Amino acid sequence: TPLSHIRNFSIVAHIDHGKSTLADRLIQMTDTVAERDMKEQLLDAMDIERERGITIKANTVRIDYTAENGEQYVLNLIDTPGHVDFAYEVSRSMRAVEGSLLVVDSTQGVEAQTLANVYQAIEADHELIPVLNKIDLPASDLDRVAEQIEDVIGIDASGAIPVSAKTGQGIRETLEAIVHHLPAPTGDASAPLKAMLVDSKYDPYLGVVVLVRIMDGVMKKGDKIRMMQTGATYGIDRIGVFRPEMTVVDELGPGEIGFITASIKQVRDTRVGDTITHEKRPCETPLPGFKPSVPVVFCGLFPVDSAEFESLRDAIEKLALNDASFSFEMESSAALGFGFRCGFLGLLHLEVIRDRIEREYDIDLITTAPSVVYHVYMKDGSMQELHNPADMPDLTYVDHVEEPRIKATILVPDEYLGDVLKLCQDRRGIQMDLTYAGARAMVVYDLPLNEVVFDFYDRLKSVTKGYASFDYEITGYRQDNLVKMQVLVNDEPVDALSMMVHRDRAEMRGRAMCEKLKELIPRHMFKIPIQAAIGGKVIARETLSAMRKDVTAKCYGGDVTRKKKLLEKQKAGKKKMRQFGKVEIPQQAFISALKMD
Ligand code: GTP
Repeated sequence: TPLSHIRNFSIVAHIDHGKSTLADRLIQMTDTVAERDMKEQLLDAMDIERERGITIKANTVRIDYTAENGEQYVLNLIDTPGHVDFAYEVSRSMRAVEGSLLVVDSTQGVEAQTLANVYQAIEADHELIPVLNKIDLPASDLDRVAEQIEDVIGIDASGAIPVSAKTGQGIRETLEAIVHHLPAPTGDASAPLKAMLVDSKYDPYLGVVVLVRIMDGVMKKGDKIRMMQTGATYGIDRIGVFRPEMTVVDELGPGEIGFITASIKQVRDTRVGDTITHEKRPCETPLPGFKPSVPVVFCGLFPVDSAEFESLRDAIEKLALNDASFSFEMESSAALGFGFRCGFLGLLHLEVIRDRIEREYDIDLITTAPSVVYHVYMKDGSMQELHNPADMPDLTYVDHVEEPRIKATILVPDEYLGDVLKLCQDRRGIQMDLTYAGARAMVVYDLPLNEVVFDFYDRLKSVTKGYASFDYEITGYRQDNLVKMQVLVNDEPVDALSMMVHRDRAEMRGRAMCEKLKELIPRHMFKIPIQAAIGGKVIARETLSAMRKDVTAKCYGGDVTRKKKLLEKQKAGKKKMRQFGKVEIPQQAFISALKMD
């Protein structure tokens, strides 16, 4: 295909505005997939994505389109992940294409993620085509939403295309707009090979499948290639395109998007954003802006049943094959036994991995409180990255601690603004900006990531009845008065409940934690002190009084079978307990205690 007849694009949208439905419709309208193979949300392969309605991994599809002018075009759609946790993957996919459809739900309007993603598209110099979706719904308000796009995003929306991805209305116009308004790619077929590694995934039969965008040169089967960042070299086994199923082709040239396989063992051996070139005739400079994605949120994953440790290891290793941004190492905790300390790109990423382990591998998990990565500066001038509060060095050696900060953007209807400001303020936020677009406010806050990882999003949704949208980016590290709070049950520290807190909030958090544990830990034959402490100094305390009565006492009349049943029930309950010194703590107590704020 000549360059002039290729169009590469992505779709930018807030979650639920209809990105996947629109992609399905574009594919269907061009007969890329036989009608009988068409299932809803074709591009969202995994079950979880389907259920949660979110797109996690970038996918791609090549569409052949005969335009109204009679010419044949190749349209390559790269589907980008919609969530902030995957911002780096979004920015890479954006650099692999020349334009974007900006999909806005015409019953809702512009949301925080629309903004975050559209800025990425603008940064990648994209031509944008605004698409106003869901016009079949009575609440659709085209004029208001077009005006909002102009006000908030600052692009011309006069040519916005009214679409219903549900009924198919406006799809033909969208395809024509892609052909006529998006620029064709450029590139030089005779220059040395320069291709972008856009994404990769693990396939049990083929090994790692690498999604590539060719900038210059031509790539063929049998070529010896080199990854410029990792330095690794491979021979190409297979080369092809996604229609969306994998279809082998002879070669890929400038402007084209496709896949290669090259006996690459694991996804970790590939780096999103890396430049691929020929070993013999390499290009001079790699593509700009490569950065490895690093985990920002850590937590411990432990099997509820310690006999399942090996199954958990197996599950984690398998998942890591397909996800280079998920890191793990073995961890042992006095309270929870053997498990793994895992690193994630963000909270959603954490939830997705945890859900997959529980569902696909059928292992019940205890997740410890998510923690961010702190920078601990020692008095000797060295710096340690702290991934687990339990590893916090003794305070006498610590000079100061820095924590990651974020820039959070929240869009919210006017009437909830007060609650949102209060929430951000309570989370140690510093207001940076407040502007209005119609009846909605856009607030920008500088917040500590640690105050957000836990339940910020849940709280935000509940105080705004679901009407706020939220997005964030990490801006850097800043020093604050941060300390490790320990929890002691019967004078023994429970490492799984250790957390880093701001000194000013420590008493409050400590008190709440002790009160909660007092309710969650069953009474024993003796009195149990429950304490929160900072470096040996107790800041909160509760006492669980001793049990007085025999549990079987309430079995009136000494009915033997009843008594037996009760004892059996107790025994079954015990299995789910963790012995802690002399105290037994039920599994549920850890989970509930960690959920608290
Ligand atoms: P991601 O999975 O994050 O990519 O979300 P999304 O933007 O792809 O949203 P999706 O396509 O899953 O659509 C969200 C919901 O809106 C689904 O229930 C769709 O059926 C519905 N929807 C999408 N387009 C339309 C439309 O034009 N009209 C109506 N009435 N509903 C639509």
